Amino acid sequence: MLGLILMLLLAIAVSVEPARAAGDAAAGAKIYAERCARCHGKNGEGNGPDLEKLHPTSSPVNWTRPVVMKQWSDKEIVDIITKGGKAVRSSPVMPPFGGKLTEAQIQDLLAFIRSLAK
Ligand code: HEC
Repeated sequence: MLGLILMLLLAIAVSVEPARAAGDAAAGAKIYAERCARCHGKNGEGNGPDLEKLHPTSSPVNWTRPVVMKQWSDKEIVDIITKGGKAVRSSPVMPPFGGKLTEAQIQDLLAFIRSLAK
């Protein structure tokens, strides 16, 4: 009986997994290249040409470093993209994208960002 329950739970867990990875990293990469790379750098390393101009004092976060990205929850990443840096007491140079991108697009960006740190 216990074995059956465990197998059932496992089956549910496996079938639920794809639904949780809501964002599409490939779609996110496209949006990223258009709207974010000028500041965050081509590969998310925090070295975009505009960031150096607009915010020379910032120490940009390198999204390819797992140690660094572990400190960021999904919610924090979504929040700063949606509300902008100022609203979350980060840099006001980080613009809010809540009115410009849909929630699904922001989830795509999150998936893309998460795919960088491995
Ligand atoms: C005008 C420049 C600019 C643009 C464009 C921009 N950002 Fe930012 N962003 C910043 C700055 C400045 C910070 C705060 C400190 C830092 O990382 O340098 C920041 C911070 C962040 C953070 C928190 C982690 C971190 O690196 O500090 C995330 C996540 C983020 N931005 C995502 C995005 C996404 C996604 C886009 C595109 C939809 C985007 N940003 C576009 C300037 C920008």
